[in-house]
Amino acid sequence: ALHYSFARKSQNQHQTSRNVLQVKASFKVAILGAAGGIGQPLALLVKMSPLVSDLHLYDIANVKGVAADLSHCNTPSRVQDFTGNDELANCLKDVDVVVIPAGVPRKPGMTRDDLFNINAGIVKTLIEAVADNCPDAFIHIISNPVNSTVPIAAEVLKQKGVYNPKKLFGVTTLDVVRANTFVAQKKNVKLIDVDVPVVGGHAGITILPLLSKTKPSVAFTDEEVHDLTVRIQNGGTEVVEAKAGAGSATLSMAYAAARFLESSLRALDGDSDVYECAFVESQVTELPFFASRIKLGKKGVEAVIASDLEGLTEYEKKGLEALKGELKGSIEKGVAFAQKQT
Ligand code: NAI
Repeated sequence: ALHYSFARKSQNQHQTSRNVLQVKASFKVAILGAAGGIGQPLALLVKMSPLVSDLHLYDIANVKGVAADLSHCNTPSRVQDFTGNDELANCLKDVDVVVIPAGVPRKPGMTRDDLFNINAGIVKTLIEAVADNCPDAFIHIISNPVNSTVPIAAEVLKQKGVYNPKKLFGVTTLDVVRANTFVAQKKNVKLIDVDVPVVGGHAGITILPLLSKTKPSVAFTDEEVHDLTVRIQNGGTEVVEAKAGAGSATLSMAYAAARFLESSLRALDGDSDVYECAFVESQVTELPFFASRIKLGKKGVEAVIASDLEGLTEYEKKGLEALKGELKGSIEKGVAFAQKQT
């Protein structure tokens, strides 16, 4: 039998494992941008999920072959391809979760904000279709700059009268995945046990790993905290530079997106012990959107774990204050873009 699981920890630090054979594949998932660098490996990982009954792949190009290829895997989900604007509505109908990795990635020397001009319009168009065809779906936004594309999506959904802040997520799982990996390497602890909450946003200094809240508790020197924080913040750039013009993180991103999707599906399926970090509408700081650890439930965000921001170290407090200006600017830029377009 097929069995896969993503390394994750519950709030109570016990590994949640479910008997895959008892799971009934029943959820419909759409990936928009499915033929891309992230889209293809993500589609493969989703095709392996025992919870998915239908996998809808949408792209403006090259998606037919990806779907034909994947459809030969003998796992439960039915794979269908959709190309171009005319087929977008059918792709989205009755879907439970929409994952959006559509858009251009960074090249060396670029910041995520440099992608704004192209990706803002792509996300806006795709979210309009989501609003019209599956307004109740969980929406996972991967397209960068996440700090702006999530506020754009929220505005578009508001304009359409279907905004549900509990179901709109900027995917920051890769920051947590990187933090866990780098901490385990540096401190020589068992990887499967490590869980570092990462808050703030998803670009440069707005990515704030809360190393003092690492579970299980790990002691770091000041120098280790600084080195790890900088490496986690620049993890994406590390990959962009190594790929030297051929794009940004795709495989680790697909892994992270698949983990966040699997968590969402488990929550939709009634699992009451599902926690992930994500960039969501928020009241934990004065900023309208903020990445925090959240509890996921059938209706989306069930709780934001605000207590993660209590008892921070001086270094983390400084990091939190330092990120607010940039994050506020990115949020406002997204909101202004969406409002200007109407
Ligand atoms: P890619 O260029 O390989 O793939 C993007 C895909 O989107 C292409 O297949 C393209 O045809 C498609 N596309 C473009 N316009 C579209 C539209 N209007 N509708 C549907 N599909 C459309 O790029 P890659 O590497 O897959 O990256 C995608 C996005 O994910 C980028 O914006 C990148 O910055 C972001 N990203 C986000 C991360 C995160 O942690 N949230 C991590 C890594 C990348």
